[in-house]
Amino acid sequence: MSWQVRAGYDPNQIVSNGNKFLLANGYMGYRGTMEEYGAEQLAANTILGLYDQVGDKWREPVNAPNGLFFKLFDQATEISLLTLKPSFHQQTLDYQQGLHIRKTAFSYNENTITLQAERFLHMKRLHLMVDEITLAAEKPITLQVKIGIDTAVWDINGPHLINFETEDLADQIILSAKTQREHKNITVAQAVNASKLNCLKKEGQFAYYEVTLTPEPITFHIFATTFNANDCQNPKEAAKKELDVAFAMDFASLKKEHTQIWKGLWEKADVEIDGDSKAQEAIRYSLYHLLSIAPRHSDTVSIPARGLSGQTYKGAIFWDTEMFMLPFFMHVLPEVAKNILSYRIYTLPGALAKAKEYGFNGAFYAWESQELGQDATSDYNVVDVFTKRPMRTYFRDKQIHISGDIAYAFWQYYEYTKDLELLLKGGAQVIFECAKFYYSYAYYKVEKNRFELIDVIGPDEYHERVYNNAYTNKLAQKTMKIALDLWEMLAENAPEDLAEILTATELMEIDKEKFQRFYNEIYVPQPNDAEIIEQFDNYFSLEDVSVTAVRKRLLDDKEYWGGAYGVAADTQVIKQADVIFMLHLFGEDYTKSEIQKNWEYYEPRTEHGSSLSACIYALVACQFDNQDWAYPYFMKTATVDLTGETKQYAGTIYIGGTHPAANGGAWLAAIKGFGGLSVKNNQLQVTPKLPKSWQRLAFNTIFNGESYHIEIEAGKTPRISKKNNS
Ligand code: BGC
Repeated sequence: MSWQVRAGYDPNQIVSNGNKFLLANGYMGYRGTMEEYGAEQLAANTILGLYDQVGDKWREPVNAPNGLFFKLFDQATEISLLTLKPSFHQQTLDYQQGLHIRKTAFSYNENTITLQAERFLHMKRLHLMVDEITLAAEKPITLQVKIGIDTAVWDINGPHLINFETEDLADQIILSAKTQREHKNITVAQAVNASKLNCLKKEGQFAYYEVTLTPEPITFHIFATTFNANDCQNPKEAAKKELDVAFAMDFASLKKEHTQIWKGLWEKADVEIDGDSKAQEAIRYSLYHLLSIAPRHSDTVSIPARGLSGQTYKGAIFWDTEMFMLPFFMHVLPEVAKNILSYRIYTLPGALAKAKEYGFNGAFYAWESQELGQDATSDYNVVDVFTKRPMRTYFRDKQIHISGDIAYAFWQYYEYTKDLELLLKGGAQVIFECAKFYYSYAYYKVEKNRFELIDVIGPDEYHERVYNNAYTNKLAQKTMKIALDLWEMLAENAPEDLAEILTATELMEIDKEKFQRFYNEIYVPQPNDAEIIEQFDNYFSLEDVSVTAVRKRLLDDKEYWGGAYGVAADTQVIKQADVIFMLHLFGEDYTKSEIQKNWEYYEPRTEHGSSLSACIYALVACQFDNQDWAYPYFMKTATVDLTGETKQYAGTIYIGGTHPAANGGAWLAAIKGFGGLSVKNNQLQVTPKLPKSWQRLAFNTIFNGESYHIEIEAGKTPRISKKNNS
């Protein structure tokens, strides 16, 4: 297996290759663009957790100026992929080692000029990126090289940076700026070991060199560091200092440090599949994305829905992180899982404020959460393709399952890791506040003697403001159960902490009774005579029409399917797994027959308009032992960022980028679906359901603080062996 993806020269693929060849290190993400690319090619170095807002446009993450900018010239003639068709071009991502390599040759003036570049975003020195450039020519030729920090980077709702200041030191170029709204400082510092280049001039944040190329290649290195006001008091000093340290080291030792970290991560996280090289490649590529964007360095940040591939989706954190990515981290890198969950503790004040804003108690988490937990979801989140007017959507106000997703995630983490500390450090408070929120959101329907959750949006966003969405109600019930179990567990194991937490959350014994009552009396839609669960009240009375028929009704392929007038809104066609998601989470409460019947009912009605959908259909098909049905959904999920075949627009709004939730979903489908990994009676258990072609599936997990290796071979009893925790 090569652990590499490659692409040749294709100007139409520049945007999708930017995603596919992304490098990231948890702190920043550098799109897979060429050294000479700029804003039009969507060159971007997206910084996690640094946001800005311009006027009343959407608040979104800031892309730092490009510290690895490099371009070749022959006087006024630019020799680059933007101006010349290359005689050879190959772009490679080595996802085992986190390296981006490009090799380009230009036929120019009866000569051949070759340019190679190998870059990485350092996995330990998170502010550092390094590029090794090698140039040669068949016949001697003297050319000019422009190297510097380019401000022409991709911006959706920018420009975000103002007050640019350059400092030209003998061996460094420093570019500092401020964000527009909050005036946060950001600095990019760059140095080139240019001993083989002859400096012609320096202009602002660029330096021009002359170089004579011959068949004997010359190599030099560009180092760039990026710091911002979220990292430290003085980003400029920090950027310079970090650059000095890196510059004093050589490329080879920096690369070694970097690849060593990758090696360690793969030792923990790799999944081996024998017998299906496509699935093997796809799962590793998916895990590469998760590992590269994992926030290993901080517990106040989390992973945005499009990872670090740009500003799409406002750089916001959705339920994607807890429900799709967290399981992977929880099983193989619990410290990252802890960081991600800690972000929800850190942003609890935002969730409390949002609940209050809508007149509720407890914690109503942001649907699209930014750095302090503020909700970036606009009331008009989609633009109508016909009128070009913003459409009122209710994701912010009504997608209340987000709080239950988070409570569920905390409890799942606790049950798998037995890490009480996270609960005591704020996790318990999060859970109690989420339970309080549902209690206060619910209505008690007197004549039916039950609690109901009305006017909500479930995971299927095409149907807004529905009553009694099965997923939401079931999850709210589970949230109460979690709160009750937590209360009991703390009373037994940490009574003093419990007392403090109850004071902080303003809960008393009587509230326990309320939670219990909600748990007993919340209405959760049950399977009907045909064993189907109605997604929400009156869903069955909507027009029952195929996805294809609904698609044919579109007048524009960017048209939004949901909302008040969308083509799917009055039909049973749904965007993504909804009831099926519920069956994934709560499968033990339903019979295999019920699970299968619902899968058969809902799948043909699902558009899979979200990249979050296919993996859940794969997982649930495994629950009723049909790996043949599961397999294509698994492959769809696992190859999502390889093929780039996903929806690129919601209305007129661009939503492309990488898909970490689908990457996490691929792991879930492989390990929990096909591998059948679960916990029973506090023991790991595997009940494999391997696809036909898979001869072997092997992976690791850390359970209750102990490391295990799991080997599943077709036709043999699976082996779970304890590893040395070193
Ligand atoms: C999906 C949501 C998801 C969001 C971000 C939307 O298209 O419907 O479930 O959280 O994308 O990935």
